[in-house]
Amino acid sequence: MNESSKTSSPQKPSRQEMIDLLNEDLAREFQAVIAYVVYSQTLKGAEYTGIAGELKKHAGEELEHALLIAKQIDYLNGTPTTVPNEVKMSDKPKDMLSFDLENERQTIRNYRERIRQAEAMGEYALSEVLRKIIAQEQEHLTDLADALGIDTPKIED
Ligand SMILES: [Fe+2]
Ligand SMILES: [Fe+2]
Repeated sequence: MNESSKTSSPQKPSRQEMIDLLNEDLAREFQAVIAYVVYSQTLKGAEYTGIAGELKKHAGEELEHALLIAKQIDYLNGTPTTVPNEVKMSDKPKDMLSFDLENERQTIRNYRERIRQAEAMGEYALSEVLRKIIAQEQEHLTDLADALGIDTPKIED
């Protein structure tokens, strides 16, 4: 699914629009769980032992995010999706880390927007939950940038 095919993202979504947007976030959280489970167990090479442990930790945190988002969708009387976004696979550790980095970057961008939208709707408990999640996504991004030996990428709005 490319970005243009997704739900339009209004400044002040209706309840139904927020349900749809959160379902896109949930599909991305499921993708992250799967990617971190598989990558953490298949990264090969002594130099990646440390980062594999880090990715395993991320997998657990992404599962926690999925549970939190599903709970918010249920609170809005929506039905949580069961379909993850597609997970790319590679046998090259650098590719795996780059896929994760790009996904985290996109996830942070989306949650920034979602926080603004939740506040515009007066859904402050939702924005509070999203703030906790985004703090962990930023740590994930930094961990991946460190593993790749690059600066943490700037997130444009
Ligand atoms: Fe997440
Ligand atoms: Fe993450």
